[in-house]
Amino acid sequence: MRSQDSAPIAAALQAYREEGVLRLHMPGHKGRPLSLPDLASLDATEVPGLDDLHDASGPIAEAQRLCADLYGARESFFLVGGSTAGIVALVLANSEPGRPVIVPRHAHRSILSGLVLSGARPVWVEPLYDPATDLVLGVPADRYRQALEEEPGATAVWAVAPTYQGVAPDLTAVAALVEARGLPLLVDEAHGAHFPFDDRLPRPALAQGAAAVVQSAHKTLAALTQTAWLHIGSDHVDRERLRGALRLVQSSSPSYVLMASLDLARQHLAGEGKTLLARAVDTALNLRAALSGHGSAPWLAVPAPVGEIAIQLDPTKLWLDVGTLGLTGPEADRRLRRLGVQVEMAGPRHLLAMLTLADGEGEALRLLTALKDLSRSAAADHSSAPVQRKNGGAGLWLAGESAVRPQPELTPREALFQRHQSVSLEAAAGRVAAESLVPYPPGVPLVMPGERLTEDVLAWVREALEAGVRFQGAADPSLQRILVLA
Ligand SMILES: Cc1ncc(COP(=O)(O)O)c(C=O)c1O
Repeated sequence: MRSQDSAPIAAALQAYREEGVLRLHMPGHKGRPLSLPDLASLDATEVPGLDDLHDASGPIAEAQRLCADLYGARESFFLVGGSTAGIVALVLANSEPGRPVIVPRHAHRSILSGLVLSGARPVWVEPLYDPATDLVLGVPADRYRQALEEEPGATAVWAVAPTYQGVAPDLTAVAALVEARGLPLLVDEAHGAHFPFDDRLPRPALAQGAAAVVQSAHKTLAALTQTAWLHIGSDHVDRERLRGALRLVQSSSPSYVLMASLDLARQHLAGEGKTLLARAVDTALNLRAALSGHGSAPWLAVPAPVGEIAIQLDPTKLWLDVGTLGLTGPEADRRLRRLGVQVEMAGPRHLLAMLTLADGEGEALRLLTALKDLSRSAAADHSSAPVQRKNGGAGLWLAGESAVRPQPELTPREALFQRHQSVSLEAAAGRVAAESLVPYPPGVPLVMPGERLTEDVLAWVREALEAGVRFQGAADPSLQRILVLA
């Protein structure tokens, strides 16, 4: 029997707090009180006077109205299961079993979850990928146009703007195309809840004609993890159907702490938060200037403009190329932690550090100092040589884009509800995949559940593995074995 005296999660959190590292990761409040008072006093239930999220008519309805006013939305819905809950509900409310929904191939897995639950048929549109920076840029409007022409029965169109790394493709042309067909443009704006509050940030999707957007308040604002909201921008979304879908996917006991956190984050953002955000953007722009174009620290990786798509970058997301120091992303991540800095994520040769309205010049200086120490330690390490870009990153992905895209035989839902078996890579040829295979970078699935694994696709997978590409989320991450339909 294990001892019941310990509380391992609380202990790990306390140790992390005591370590006192510079937090360059989510949640946006960075562990500081900002908008958050004593939490236990806010934890209640649906007693008289406290309203009900699933049938809001009192303070929750008023809080949601205030949020809609601030964001210029027709209506806003509070979410206590992250953007994931809002995205799944939006898929359910805007799809029908077997009918097509147009979805970027780099969509977050919550869209795939929604498609599995609804039984809709995804029609994937391919994003552009910038090999020099390992960044996915977005899907050009022409690719959406073609998909809409080929799929006149589509019920909805999805976009991801911005990406995790803060790349925000312009959506105006896509919104016009979708609007002209009377369809809803649904936008995963999980990383863009702060966009409307500083002109130096990318244009918010609602202002570009989105019918609905989902934003994680916890990612970039002073709000607790799991808090998010969904804003309605047009009549193309049936709000009664959406309410029903939200009831289906959210807890019947939504946390008052999380709802209060959303309410307080909105209030904070409308006041002091906006000033703090301006400070964070100033700081980020100065940091970006300091990190651009000199060799003594990791360089800021910025994609060059391409003709087919206009993008804006969120300046608060710093995508740092540590390969120039001869380090891989994970190694640089470990070294930085020893130097007292924790970043949001590590790619094969990049780190993502994020500033939020909790950060200012002090944090920027700490990061710069740590990056200089990092580059000194890398230079002192004689084995360090610039990390070669494995052809797995770009070349293989581009090959995947043009040549070996597997064909869907079943919808993701049909594939999920059939019996599966695990087979070796060699034995998988000709079989239908029961899981997605996602090379990272760029995190765009090569294979989706329900797609047939051809010899070409498997040759590509083998080549990618030999080149050192990591696959995300597979049952066997080494891909010695693959889950297929039995
Ligand atoms: C692009 C994107 N969309 C949606 C989500 C889901 O957001 P949440 O964690 O709030 O459920 C994430 C989470 O990382 C994301 O990166």
